[in-house]
Amino acid sequence: MNIKIFDTTLRDGEQTPGVALSPMQKLNIAKKLDSLGVNIIEAGFPIISKGELHAIKMITKANLTSEICGLVRTNKKDVDAAIDANLNYIHMFIATSDIHLKYKLKLTREQVIEKAIKSIEYGKSYGLKIEFSAEDATRTERNFLKKVFKEVAGAGADTIDIPDTVGYATPQYIGEITKDAIDVTRLPVSIHCHDDFGLSVANTISAIQNGAKCAHVTINGIGERAGNTPLEELVMALKCLQFKKKMDTNIKTKLLYETSKYISELAKIPVQPNKAIIGDNAFSHESGIHTHGILNNPLTYEPIGPELVGRNRGLTVGKHAGIHGVKFMLEEYNMSPDIKQTRTILDKIKSICDQGKQITDTELFEIANETIKQYKENKLVKLVGFSVSIGIGTMPYAFVKLNINGKNFLGTDYGVGPVDAALNAIRKITGRISQLRIKEYKLASISGGSNALCEVTIKIEDDDNNNISSKYIGKDIVTTSVKAMIDGINKIMLKTNKTRRKKIV
Ligand code: KIV
Ligand code: ZN
Repeated sequence: MNIKIFDTTLRDGEQTPGVALSPMQKLNIAKKLDSLGVNIIEAGFPIISKGELHAIKMITKANLTSEICGLVRTNKKDVDAAIDANLNYIHMFIATSDIHLKYKLKLTREQVIEKAIKSIEYGKSYGLKIEFSAEDATRTERNFLKKVFKEVAGAGADTIDIPDTVGYATPQYIGEITKDAIDVTRLPVSIHCHDDFGLSVANTISAIQNGAKCAHVTINGIGERAGNTPLEELVMALKCLQFKKKMDTNIKTKLLYETSKYISELAKIPVQPNKAIIGDNAFSHESGIHTHGILNNPLTYEPIGPELVGRNRGLTVGKHAGIHGVKFMLEEYNMSPDIKQTRTILDKIKSICDQGKQITDTELFEIANETIKQYKENKLVKLVGFSVSIGIGTMPYAFVKLNINGKNFLGTDYGVGPVDAALNAIRKITGRISQLRIKEYKLASISGGSNALCEVTIKIEDDDNNNISSKYIGKDIVTTSVKAMIDGINKIMLKTNKTRRKKIV
């Protein structure tokens, strides 16, 4: 069974507190969603602003394969704005729960039905395709909800959507009202869940098991409060878990991670590390028992392979590390400690972790280096020099000179602060080797006073999704950050396969 994916990242996702996208950013996201294979893109809410209208117009003109839809309330003005935005598919909603009727709409149940019917008839008179949502459906009195669905179907709605507006439903109840909606309308039914109780995916699946044909979702689950059903989790659950009937979607799952990173960066909403499918730790292993199993057969501790969603597997060192994992990680850096040396390295790691400290990849490298001794690191990227200018009324600006494989390169860039400017300038130069993304930047002061030492920890990812964490301690923040970054780049290059390194510069 093929389930349709209705992506509302550009509408409900943009309602995430603090998120605001420019029309151009919205268009670029729409293109990404189109490449990902979503069936429907909810491009926005045309009436809310001129910029929003402009963005939706650009998206409707972009000749995308996905159908484009826009949100409207049950009034002429909203429908007219949708028509103005060149939409021929609208998502029309009105609240139906008594709480909303009494405290928000100040309408009776009869008035709500009347408004919905009138607006559907108006939209249909322009030939629009209409998906009707009974907002707060799951807190709406069940018989009234059925009546609403029946009336709007009679008025010409093409699809019925069931919003669990405040994420209040249980999977069982969602299943029941999905069946109600199908019974009374005989129309295709969609499901729209929020994650207030962490049940959005389970609730969406329950609706699908009870006959819903389409799921409303957002990338990374962004959305109001706890967010919406995350596209990546739902799609992978439908694809990989056991159901009575086989289920799938049109989503190109290998693009999931890339799309998630893109949205996270544009929306400026980081993904929590333990988030399923797309979080940093979703395919990362530390404990000795797990890494041993993974190295023998990844199925021991992974339900699916990371490549299925466009990712790589990662091993990290820590208190629970074991001999096999550490040996494997060092081999990635072309280091081959013997068993005695590996045990010594492991003991050193554990004694550092027992003090409550984390070990970065570059520290693992240093520990191994001092243990093996004869290892000679061939640093591909060397810092020749840099300068940063800051002042009032100008943006911080950095010049960086790097030597890569014997050749000097100069990079310049602006940034929001001096560190940002310097790291941007470095990335401009190293872009010729790999597009590096800074996933995490942490700064800590080690001692007190204005001459305190600082500790910079950076996590970077290359365009092959290899990750590295690097730490540096120094006197000033910018120099220390630059050194941590360059150290990380050199280590990530050791991880990168040899053929790729050959064509580097
Ligand atoms: O969650 C919700 O109820 C909505 C409506 C606009 C359908 O997003
Ligand atoms: Zn919603």
